[in-house]
Amino acid sequence: MSKRVAIFISGGGSNMRALVESMTGDHPARAALVLSNDPQAGGIAWARDAGIPTDVVDHRPFAGDRAAFEAALAERLAPHAIDIIALAGFMRVLTAGFVAPWQGRMLNIHPSLLPKYRGLDTHARALAAGDTEAGCTVHEVTPALDDGPILGQARVPILPDDTARTLAARVLEQEHILYPAVLKRFAAGDRRPVMLP
Ligand code: GRF
Repeated sequence: MSKRVAIFISGGGSNMRALVESMTGDHPARAALVLSNDPQAGGIAWARDAGIPTDVVDHRPFAGDRAAFEAALAERLAPHAIDIIALAGFMRVLTAGFVAPWQGRMLNIHPSLLPKYRGLDTHARALAAGDTEAGCTVHEVTPALDDGPILGQARVPILPDDTARTLAARVLEQEHILYPAVLKRFAAGDRRPVMLP
C-alpha cells in the first residue's frame, strides 16, 4: 500500500511539481492532495490539471488566529487519509499544535545548508557572509523553525558574480533533485540522509 502524501504550497509549486512527477512506478508514495494557503497559487491549477485532489485554506480571513487556521487545515486533510505531509514552498509558520501529531511524518525543504541561515533571505545572507558554497536542506519538521533532523542536503558553488537571484536559481535546480530523492527514501522508511553531490 503506497504512502499518501499531502503537499503544501503557497505559490508556483515547482518543488510540488517535481515531487508529483517523481511518484510513479515502484515509488512507495503517491500524491493524494495539494493544499495551499493562497487561492491564487499557480501550483493549485497545475495539480488540478494533473488530476490530483486540491484544496485551499486562505489564511487571510483568520487574521493571525493561527490555531483557527491550522484547525481548518486539519479538517481539510482528514478526508484524504494522509500518511506524510511535504511542505514545498509553504510560507506559513506552523505552530507546535499543528506539528506535534505529524512529527516524524512531515518534511520541509529550506533553501540553505542548515543549520546555517534559518528563516528568510537565505541566499542574500550567504552572499553577504562571503560564503563560497550554498545549497538546500530537506528536514523533518519540528515545532522549532527550520530545525528538525536533516534528511538530505545538496551543495552548490557560489560564483563571484552571483546575485541572490542567480544563486536561488542554481539552488532551486538542486531542490528539484533532492526533495524527490529524500521523499522516495523516507516513504520507504529509510531515514539515512541523501547528500548531493
Ligand atoms: C524554494 O526556494 C523553496 O526552497 C522554498 O520556497 C521556494 C519556492 O518553492 N521553501 P516552489 O517553487 O514554490 O516549490
